[in-house]
Amino acid sequence: MADIPVEALDQSAARAELARLADIIAKANAAYHQSDDPFISDAEFDALKQRNAAIEARFPALKRPDSPSDIVGATPAEGFSKVTHEVAMLSLANGFDDADIEEFDRRIRRYLNIAVEAPLHYTAEPKIDGLSLSLRYEKGALVQAATRGDGTTGENVTANARTIADIPHQIQGAPEILEVRGEVYMSHPDFEALNACQAELGGKTFANPRNAAAGSLRQLNPDITRARPLRFFAYAWGALSAPLSDTQWGAIKRLSEFGFATNDLTRLCTGQKDLLAQYKTIESQRATLTYDIDGVVYKVNDLGLQDRLGFRSTTPRWAIAHKFPAELAWTRLEAIDIQVGRTGALSPVARLHPVTVGGVVVSNATLHNEDYIAGRDNKGAQIRAGKDIRVGDWVQVYRAGDVIPKVADVDLSKRPEAAQPYVFPVTCPECQSDALREPGDAIRRCTGGLICPAQAVEKLKHFVSRAAFDIEGLGAKQVEQFYADGWITGPADIFRLRERYSDGLQQLKNREGWGEKSANNLFDAIDEKRKISLTRLIFSLGIRHVGEAASNLIAMHYGTAEAFLDAMDAAADQTGPAWESLLSIDGVGEVMATSLVHSLTQPSERASIDALLQQLNVQPVARPTAEGSPVAGQTVVFTGTLEKMTRAEAKARAERLGAKVSGSVSAKTDLLVAGPGAGSKARKAAELGIRTLDEDGWLALIEGQ
Ligand code: IVH
Repeated sequence: MADIPVEALDQSAARAELARLADIIAKANAAYHQSDDPFISDAEFDALKQRNAAIEARFPALKRPDSPSDIVGATPAEGFSKVTHEVAMLSLANGFDDADIEEFDRRIRRYLNIAVEAPLHYTAEPKIDGLSLSLRYEKGALVQAATRGDGTTGENVTANARTIADIPHQIQGAPEILEVRGEVYMSHPDFEALNACQAELGGKTFANPRNAAAGSLRQLNPDITRARPLRFFAYAWGALSAPLSDTQWGAIKRLSEFGFATNDLTRLCTGQKDLLAQYKTIESQRATLTYDIDGVVYKVNDLGLQDRLGFRSTTPRWAIAHKFPAELAWTRLEAIDIQVGRTGALSPVARLHPVTVGGVVVSNATLHNEDYIAGRDNKGAQIRAGKDIRVGDWVQVYRAGDVIPKVADVDLSKRPEAAQPYVFPVTCPECQSDALREPGDAIRRCTGGLICPAQAVEKLKHFVSRAAFDIEGLGAKQVEQFYADGWITGPADIFRLRERYSDGLQQLKNREGWGEKSANNLFDAIDEKRKISLTRLIFSLGIRHVGEAASNLIAMHYGTAEAFLDAMDAAADQTGPAWESLLSIDGVGEVMATSLVHSLTQPSERASIDALLQQLNVQPVARPTAEGSPVAGQTVVFTGTLEKMTRAEAKARAERLGAKVSGSVSAKTDLLVAGPGAGSKARKAAELGIRTLDEDGWLALIEGQ
């Protein structure tokens, strides 16, 4: 029935199909909102709703009293309270082959100025495929357990964590404050038994042990968690009142002495050859382990060196996850759909005959862009030996970790005779505007801007997403509905909802899922977010290339929304001091800077932002003033050769101390650090009377920081 086109349905088939759709949409809604475990993708969900609406349009008399068209979303589950991590829970950079690991080792040596031949020690341990958990102990007592969440804020799952046998409630001999971090997972036999039991009771079964572990830990009733066989491996730490050791190896040993399970496949290795050998060893044991692992994690052993290496925006420089090869499967490509994203990108999506890839049923995969479908890369060189991908083809699907599955290859021997080369659209399927490709861009983009409903909706969804405004009760589904109703066309409208619709609350109340109370709760949740940090505001605008980390850097550079927007106006012609200042931000390159000024000076976009600002109270961002740092807030320039540390390390360290590092000397420079061979910059600094130090002078200045 699901395959019969709407036009071909007769009255009784339509009635049955509406019943089926109401049922599956209600289940999908509940899974999405209440158990955090969607069983279909957003796109599949949308397709079901569209089909439902199309049938209702053809047979209005058959519209059900519980029609999914009238439901915005299920009430969100009563959540866990939030916990802000004292030390952020970061993720790991990934490596996929030996060359990536060699490069990891080379990069570290370069950064630390360690010769290739000199011994450098690392730990190598399995990457457990579960979910990370941070356990806080104060004076030896477990006081809090929190999930990773977005890395900054997680969920308080203390009561649940206390039910896990591997997690001690009391520990002896630990520092007064100790946050132990590790992975919650479920073993294979426990997973099989749980699923068998669930199936017998007619309950929900899980696709893989990871989902089972996540679903079990995030239970609102700790008694359910207690009944689930969860385990925990400790492998890291967060806040500490005293160091555990001076090496990673020593610290893990201490964790084990405190009573935590640590992984017995962890080894101390010397140099990258040793790491790769340990990778092979762990990979060869993978099949016989009783738990899932998806790679091997390498960490620099010396904690002093870890400290010097520090972090990129979301990952440490001193560690990498060497992932196992992706899982593969073959299936039929049933259709290619085009989705339009918030930046107007037309993304081809493969609709596949469902196939299991590494324990997960896959029915959609990305096809990247039109060149990829045609069998070439963005420089015109052949990929897949030049084989194109056609609807009807037998294709290889590939899944690595959590990433979106990809179509990797095509089997020409199974190509149906009638299969035709895919013709990529040159107009937007959503608004019919021209879709163009800029030179050097692999992606074709809709030129419709905010008149394109897909872009407008995607931009709004991004605006309310977790790392942006994160408004409780206003998720992707609600935004779609409000947009479809014409209640929200731009972000400012969200903040006018109360004013506009309090009177018309009737309209909202009439929708299933909404009452006066829930509508008022929504308005309150919106009001709460009028006060917002500049970082979140910048990120929420959804400017191409400007992610969370960049938003933070930009916010720190400009401090206030006014200063930021004025600077973008001044930088609009892409020359002059305002433009140079934008480019001086470490992490902002020419491409991002161009995207920023284009987007923020484009009249309709700017009008939308100005209207939004009227509704908000944007909190300025202060530069991090590292306490007691002698260089906090100062602009420092490094020039010449540094001998005791690399330029990258010097820069990172200065930034950690709250300084701004610039590439050129100007009247705004506070301090020049000049090594041997310093030339014009040193002369200019002398002319301007700027304080100048050599490398030793600099190190003496920041000593002890
Ligand atoms: S170390 C600062 N070690 O992998 C980095 N992570 O992709 C701290 N994971 O969020 C993480 N096994 O959930 C580390 N042996 C291991 C791990 C491990 C699994 C997970 C962890 C992390 C994710 C990053």
